[in-house]
Amino acid sequence: MASDSKVVDGEAADSLPKGLRSNEALHDPFDWYHNKRSTAPIQYDPNRGVYDVFSYELVKKGLQDAESLSRPQLTEEETDDPLSYFDTGMVWSDGPSHKQVKGELFQYFSPRMLQGIEDSIVSITESQLDTAIADTGELDLVEDFAVPVPLRVIMDFIGIPQDDHEQLLEWLETFRSVMTTEDSDKTSVKGGHMADAAEYFKNLVDERQSNPQNDLISQLSTETELTPEEIGSNCFDFALAGQGTMSELLTNAVYILDQQSYISEIDDYDLSVVLEEILRYRSPLQARARKTTDQITLGETTIPADATVILWIGAANRDPEKFEDPDMFDAFRDPDHLAFGSGSHNCIGAPIARIEAPIILETLFDRFPQVDIDYGNLIPKPKASKLGFDKMPAQFSPPSV
Ligand code: HEM
Repeated sequence: MASDSKVVDGEAADSLPKGLRSNEALHDPFDWYHNKRSTAPIQYDPNRGVYDVFSYELVKKGLQDAESLSRPQLTEEETDDPLSYFDTGMVWSDGPSHKQVKGELFQYFSPRMLQGIEDSIVSITESQLDTAIADTGELDLVEDFAVPVPLRVIMDFIGIPQDDHEQLLEWLETFRSVMTTEDSDKTSVKGGHMADAAEYFKNLVDERQSNPQNDLISQLSTETELTPEEIGSNCFDFALAGQGTMSELLTNAVYILDQQSYISEIDDYDLSVVLEEILRYRSPLQARARKTTDQITLGETTIPADATVILWIGAANRDPEKFEDPDMFDAFRDPDHLAFGSGSHNCIGAPIARIEAPIILETLFDRFPQVDIDYGNLIPKPKASKLGFDKMPAQFSPPSV
């Protein structure tokens, strides 16, 4: 596979490295990372046409050097591409325009601005549990819980009507697929579907501009210099970034807490500290892609201009040079991990994730402290850039009396 394949979402056009082409390796890529890292921290893979980076030091350096290693663009110069509406999202820009837009948005994610979000997280979690678990206690933790709860939380925060959650989820999934396959917006039915999403966000921003409510879209419309396109496209990105990663974090958390037999003693732990170790140990985003803007030297390797570089966050977070006994899960470690990235593109939603995840898990375990995961039917996510599950059937039981 050539290096000009689409790489916007952290892996080259879905092509998996040879060492990760099995469900076992996708679920547990850590031996592959260790083997690679101990051979060399940067390696060129001729099959995928990319440079893979595995050590903590160099992954962090790569994430922080937005000038030499830029985020791949969403669309080419084609303005009639319906995806171009989403181009103005800061995720797809670098340099001064990225800095200016992120500067405007940043304040809305401070703990002070997020005050009050807790109540809506509890009530959305409770109502999803009522729907999903009510009768039998059996559910697919992914589809019935870890996907809809964070989606509904982020929709509530942004100001997207809750009734539209199924439609929004479909758009998010379409967008992910269009981004990482060769399906361009013009050639695929799926891609053309994104024009509807652009229209929806345009109308929503217009509506909130003339009739402000108590939500992020209204605040951005009335209090900032951002254009309507910048508001709409960034809010779409918040839903995109805030849904998948949170789903992965929640399923990884339930999986690890069950494996470590912590669930029955969950009250003895500070979940906000344990979650930082979960983020290190099984980082939802395992890899991010970058393009070299010029020839660069990273570590001892010279990389030509216009090359694709894959920064393996998941490998960095298990680097023994940085973390003592990195394959041991230590609930008290409170690690300096890279799960939220580093440098100018670091995660703007981290404060939300850090408030949201402990509340969702506490609400779940308070009500259903006994969990029986059907380990024989777990399905890992089929991508190397994401670590989590596509299916996690489980039986949840209320406290025994
Ligand atoms: C456990 C949950 C989350 C994880 C692990 C995570 C991880 C990350 C990472 C690694 C990056 C850096 C990407 C890069 O450098 O290419 C990032 C960026 C970003 N995240 Fe998150 N994220 C999470 C939750 C959220 C939430 C809840 C939101 C909602 C607002 C969000 C919004 C964003 C946005 C908009 C960016 C792009 C920032 C920029 O380009 O400057 N994330 N996230």
